[in-house]
Amino acid sequence: MVGCGTLVRDPHSWSPHVGEIRMVVSPDVRGKGVGKALSQETFALALGAGLEKLSVQMTVDQQSAIALFESLGFKAEALLRDHVRDVHGKTHDIVVLGTTSRRSRPRWRRMGCRALSSTRNARSTFGSNRADHRTGG
Ligand SMILES: CC(C)(COP(=O)(O)OP(=O)(O)OC[C@H]1O[C@@H](n2cnc3c(N)ncnc32)[C@H](O)[C@@H]1OP(=O)(O)O)[C@@H](O)C(=O)NCCC(=O)NCCS
Repeated sequence: MVGCGTLVRDPHSWSPHVGEIRMVVSPDVRGKGVGKALSQETFALALGAGLEKLSVQMTVDQQSAIALFESLGFKAEALLRDHVRDVHGKTHDIVVLGTTSRRSRPRWRRMGCRALSSTRNARSTFGSNRADHRTGG
């Protein structure tokens, strides 16, 4: 396995419209596009599930992860101090990045995200209507 992307959501919570992306790529294949491909597939899952907002969390020193998600339209929304503890017991600050369907969809379309077309027939609140899906490429 070279990587894993997960979309975490809870339709019964008070944030049924929000999904959290969790992603990890094996260190020996990083920087080769696996992370971007995984994030596209995860984004397609979010579209199909009708989610309106996505978030992702990482420690503030994970610069490659922050760069990846900023390149996909995510922006920093919160800083959680001493929020996680590593294997050595040291705590780290977490940054929460988020994006909305409205902000990210045009960017993903410009990138030629093939995932957008695979969600053409899925129920989605990302696009404003069905016509929006038909023009999605
Ligand atoms: C974040 C992570 C998933 C990226 O995976 P990856 O396969 O290396 O990413 P990609 O090769 O697809 O890179 C995609 C984009 O990320 C950015 N990026 C990746 N590595 C980078 C680095 N070292 N420095 C700066 N930008 C970087 C680039 O913008 C790149 O876009 P480009 O293709 O136009 O250059 C990987 O580093 C990882 O598993 N990190 C540890 C876990 C983690 O932080 N997960 C995210 C939070 S859940």
